[in-house]
Amino acid sequence: MDAGFYGQMGQQYYLSLFSIIMELQNIFNSWASGQTAKKFTEKQWLLSKWENIEGIDWPQEKIAAMVDQITMRLGLLPDHSLLDLGCGGGWLLKKMQPIIKKGVGIDISFNMLQHAASFFQEGDWVTGQAAQIPFKEATFDRLLSYFVFINIQDKEYIKKSLQEIHRVLKKGGKALIGQLPDKDKSADYDQDKSEYLDYCQERFSLGQNYRDENYVPLQLYDRDEFCEMALQTGMTCRSDQSFNPFYRPGQDLTINWRFDVILEKNS
Ligand SMILES: C[S@@+](CC[C@H](N)C(=O)[O-])C[C@H]1O[C@@H](n2cnc3c(N)ncnc32)[C@H](O)[C@@H]1O
Repeated sequence: MDAGFYGQMGQQYYLSLFSIIMELQNIFNSWASGQTAKKFTEKQWLLSKWENIEGIDWPQEKIAAMVDQITMRLGLLPDHSLLDLGCGGGWLLKKMQPIIKKGVGIDISFNMLQHAASFFQEGDWVTGQAAQIPFKEATFDRLLSYFVFINIQDKEYIKKSLQEIHRVLKKGGKALIGQLPDKDKSADYDQDKSEYLDYCQERFSLGQNYRDENYVPLQLYDRDEFCEMALQTGMTCRSDQSFNPFYRPGQDLTINWRFDVILEKNS
């Protein structure tokens, strides 16, 4: 037995210890993720998992149009830091990253962040929730939260989240809370959705979609009420039409059955 043999044994020992630790970490993460999902699903919040990042019904042209709309509304500049709150699979942040200085994605779903990190290694992915953002005050120039509040129905939670958005934004910072379903326009939504599904069925075969596995409580919002809650935090609030998630060639880029809210922290 020589020193080389013991060296090799030691290396193997450390390697197997390392893989056991990694395995335990995976078991813990998946347990913790399950617990979070359970807690939030019990509260009837959707943990929407968009498996298809640039999926079948999200062609490049539509994604590019949506990214343009968001960029314009947020007024993104090359020296900006951006927090993507409820980033999901991270595909929006991936699109924004080349035009800003720094992007960070937060999501309550560890699985979604793992998914994001697997195809976008340069990103910063942090587990966290809207009502308790794990960053110190005045950290970000811009904040985006797209297709997230659509699932949140607890008003106290929304108020806390707005306070948190105000806290982490720098003075002069802006936030875009997008795709809030308008409570007065659900008939228009139903009509557009049915036309859109017909259009998709003729052209696409739908892939696996985790959303089907979840109970989806679509939360309807009142524009004025949402803005009033935001005003209470000291931010200004402007509502605007949302990007049309059923967009296809020849259709309007924006729709009236959902709205975006643009918040600004002036002091
Ligand atoms: C429909 S997906 C949208 C993801 C991404 N913003 C996009 O546009 O593709 C909603 C995401 O919000 C996350 N989410 C839901 N409630 C949240 C909360 N309270 N705090 C942080 N993230 C939340 C979900 O886990 C999910 O990834």
